[in-house]
Amino acid sequence: MKFALLLSALLPSTFMAQQTDWFADAKLGIFIHWGMYAVDGTSESWAFHNETVPYATYMRQMNGFSAAKYNPNQWAKLIKESGARYCVITTKHHDGLALYNTQIKTPQAPHQKNWNPKYPLSTKYQTPAKQDLISPLFTSLRQEQLKVGAYYSLLDWSSFDYPTFLKDSSRYQINDEPKRWNNFLTFMHGQIAEINTQLRPDLFWFDGDWEHSEIEWQAAQIDSIIHQSNPNAILNGRLHSFGNYDTPEQNMPITHPSRPIWELCLTTNDNWGYRPLDNNYKTPFELLCIFSECLGMGGNLLLDIGPKADGTFPDEQVKILQEFGRWTSKHQSAIYGTSAGIPYGHYHGNSTLSKDSLVLNLFVPSPQGSDLHASNKMLPIYMKGLKNKPSMIELIGSSTPLAVSEVGKISWSEVPGTLFIQIPISEMDPMISVIQLTFNEPIELYRGKGGFH
Ligand code: GLC
Repeated sequence: MKFALLLSALLPSTFMAQQTDWFADAKLGIFIHWGMYAVDGTSESWAFHNETVPYATYMRQMNGFSAAKYNPNQWAKLIKESGARYCVITTKHHDGLALYNTQIKTPQAPHQKNWNPKYPLSTKYQTPAKQDLISPLFTSLRQEQLKVGAYYSLLDWSSFDYPTFLKDSSRYQINDEPKRWNNFLTFMHGQIAEINTQLRPDLFWFDGDWEHSEIEWQAAQIDSIIHQSNPNAILNGRLHSFGNYDTPEQNMPITHPSRPIWELCLTTNDNWGYRPLDNNYKTPFELLCIFSECLGMGGNLLLDIGPKADGTFPDEQVKILQEFGRWTSKHQSAIYGTSAGIPYGHYHGNSTLSKDSLVLNLFVPSPQGSDLHASNKMLPIYMKGLKNKPSMIELIGSSTPLAVSEVGKISWSEVPGTLFIQIPISEMDPMISVIQLTFNEPIELYRGKGGFH
């Protein structure tokens, strides 16, 4: 009896740990919001929902969605080059246009003709792109050994069977027309089953769960549709209580998100999709600072890009991905497969630890706005409470020995001193430097109150 109890307590978490291992170790993913909204540069789906653009005008963007220069191999190479280990793309956003090859027709309001009702609402049938845009990308990404994720909006503001349409108008209430809601569920669950069998994603990235309860979405049913035939698929945490990890959006959490595994999703400018007028790009330095914050708290970054309607990327986004690539390839050992770093009381910055706790990485934002190489100055950093002595302290990418001193160590006290490390500014990374400390024994921290006791 005891044995059986123990097993059942152990099994689920062991299973979960294996299932999500690749994700927790991946650290960087690229999010892609691609849709008809790139044609006129409106906000993705929200443009009609919030009534900034009439619905018919919004949907007419389909006529310009050409994907004429779409090159999934090039996309996959650029994403790989960035250092990302996975990519999540919109298979269908809130506007209802499927970018994959759905066979299920979306019900349209009577007397409306925003798309050809003879065919499903997809890029293959309703746009000049005339193709399934997702499966060739998944093939290319997999060739680059990247994991693939399908973003799918549970809510669908275009479906006539879906209750919500514009922000201030609803088609019906579920309680009044339960059959109609069931029709929607059959449609939506059917699309999820299609994505699961056609594309077999490594991860499902749901969105829009806020409009209905877990029971209304029949979230348990969605979970089982996926896992019956794709048992290792992981789900993001936007299906109420289902899912493997938390997805804070746009802003870094200050305290650790509720689930142990988490991912910050973040735009490079202010929008998820392509909007030519939005030039409010975050700098590579800022984005890498945020990325190292995620790493320090044991999380991932899902960095978003929005391709143009012809399938090319804005130059700024390409530059950002390339700079991520330069930085991640130089600092691989401080990034992938690491755990959250040491608490702030020890080091006032972001850090990561190798899983065996033999390597500690301290992230140091480099001084900006001046020529680093011309500087003969030192940037001092310090940390405290390290019980064991590192066997090596180095600045990743530099072979210059670092001046290190331990200050305030009392020979007969167990309290460690404060370690000062001088970093030659001329040797620093242009963005964020990493000081790597290697130990012969797993790192041990002094967590006491100081003094002699
Ligand atoms: C929000 C928005 C959606 C976007 C998503 C990405 O939920 O509704 O437009 O795709 O965030 O996280």
